[in-house]
Amino acid sequence: MRVIVDAADPDRAVLDHAGQVIRDGGLVAFPTETVYGLGADALNPAATASIFTAKGRPSSDPLIVHVTAVTDARTLTRSWGDTAELIAERFWPGPLTLVMEKAEIVDDGITAGLQTVAIRVPAHPVARGLIAAARRPIAAPSANRFGRISPTSADAVEAELFGRYDMLIDSGPTAVGVESTVLDLTGPAPIVLRPGGVTLEQLRQVLGEVTQRSGHSQSESTEAAAPGQFLRHYSPSTPLVAVRGPRNVETQLVEGLRSRGLSVTVIGLPEPLEAAATDLYALLRAADGTADVIVVSMVEPTDIGRAINDRLFRAARGKVVESIDQTDLDDLVGHLDGDRTESPR
Ligand code: TXA
Ligand code: MG
Repeated sequence: MRVIVDAADPDRAVLDHAGQVIRDGGLVAFPTETVYGLGADALNPAATASIFTAKGRPSSDPLIVHVTAVTDARTLTRSWGDTAELIAERFWPGPLTLVMEKAEIVDDGITAGLQTVAIRVPAHPVARGLIAAARRPIAAPSANRFGRISPTSADAVEAELFGRYDMLIDSGPTAVGVESTVLDLTGPAPIVLRPGGVTLEQLRQVLGEVTQRSGHSQSESTEAAAPGQFLRHYSPSTPLVAVRGPRNVETQLVEGLRSRGLSVTVIGLPEPLEAAATDLYALLRAADGTADVIVVSMVEPTDIGRAINDRLFRAARGKVVESIDQTDLDDLVGHLDGDRTESPR
């Protein structure tokens, strides 16, 4: 069932119904300010297990638990500290997920057996209304098949998961467009595991020193070195090449690929960076299947540009062209053929 709900002023009756679906152990796809999520009752292990089945997601990749208030977040952790309090005050509700030591009540199925749990307080009125109506925390990954592009509209959720959820709440396109920032607070210093809607610059203003795990050293294997950081992620089915360099590199690359008989779709991201983030996944989706190769230039590596470039790097499976002189185009074309045959769909 797909229902339309006003993003700013959601219909209570519809949310109450959706909350009941969650309490009954069902799956509800719903909007957040970042991307659409596929939600289940976080306190019902059978329900959260069905998320993994619906997405084709390996059980080794843990889920984020969504709550409406800091007081609820605390109950999911073993100990809530000053740092968490500081960050929560500044960035919640919003596109930030905190990884903390988990409390007993958090099921191993959600955390993939880890002793830590990822928690987020979303800002979207529909997400908040759904959690409130369900009267329990909601576990939700992005509502896409595993490894694919996250959905930023209800149509995208249908394209990914039609028939695999009990209810889809359509509140139009999402605003931020990339997922939440995942910040690990379990170590001696905070570390960004995934760049996202809250920027490193914003975090540093509040916390001082914050480090960022480099996504560029991750292995190609499906057993991620750390949860969720698979190199092959956020991927269209059509192979993608990312460009990091001046505009003429993109032009030369496109010419080089076309001269080798490949059709190329070039994605131009809008400015400023916030607009590029908002549109990124819809543009990747629209480009998918339109050519032999997608080419897209990376953006300025600051602020939310870090998240955009991280997703492009993964969508490209690490294929980043910085200069034409240093790129063996025949070798690159070979890799693209490899991507095509390995593509899950
Ligand atoms: O914006 C978002 O975060 C969206 C919306 C729906 O809230 N959700 C989302 O969930 O992107 P998902 O499952 O697609 O990505 C969650 C990320 C994964 O990379 C996962 O590995 C990581 O968070 N994660 C979850 N629990 C973790 C933990 N205990 N330790 C480290 N990473 C964790
Ligand atoms: Mg995801």
